[in-house]
Amino acid sequence: MPATKKKSPASVSRHPLFTTIRGEHDEVRKFFKQFEKEKNAPEEAHTAAMTILGELIGHAEREESIFYPALKERDEKLFHEAHEEHRVAKQLIAELQQGDPDETFNAKMKVLNDVIEHHIEEEYEQVFPAMRGLLREQLDEMAERWSAAKLGRVPTAVREGTRRRRSA
Ligand SMILES: [Fe+2]
Ligand SMILES: [Fe+2]
Repeated sequence: MPATKKKSPASVSRHPLFTTIRGEHDEVRKFFKQFEKEKNAPEEAHTAAMTILGELIGHAEREESIFYPALKERDEKLFHEAHEEHRVAKQLIAELQQGDPDETFNAKMKVLNDVIEHHIEEEYEQVFPAMRGLLREQLDEMAERWSAAKLGRVPTAVREGTRRRRSA
């Protein structure tokens, strides 16, 4: 038996980093449901949408800077797929941030919801399992950076939305 104890891989499903990411996905899903309910009341729906968009951008930025580099090392193909899905979602978000609450806006929100739902499923089914084998220390460090990034950030869309409404 070797004298030095080997560091064991952390349990992906139980580490707080993954709990946090799942929690943010749940929040986004909740916001989309709220939007569905309110979309006939344009002002409320637009406010709810701006919140979703801000949350989504923040979440995507954190994943790209903190979480995805480790994914790239472990599964480059999956990394590129996830990155492309973020790119498509961000393009839709940028268009939504320019748009007024009308039928096109609602249609784009629906497509964004579908894109995000597919992406979340893929993160659970493929990305999270690809992270198996990361050490607890690595996950701890990512979780710390995640919290710091979240604390230091005011979501762009919320800021923009506030400005738009004030100047309207
Ligand atoms: Fe993602
Ligand atoms: Fe995600």
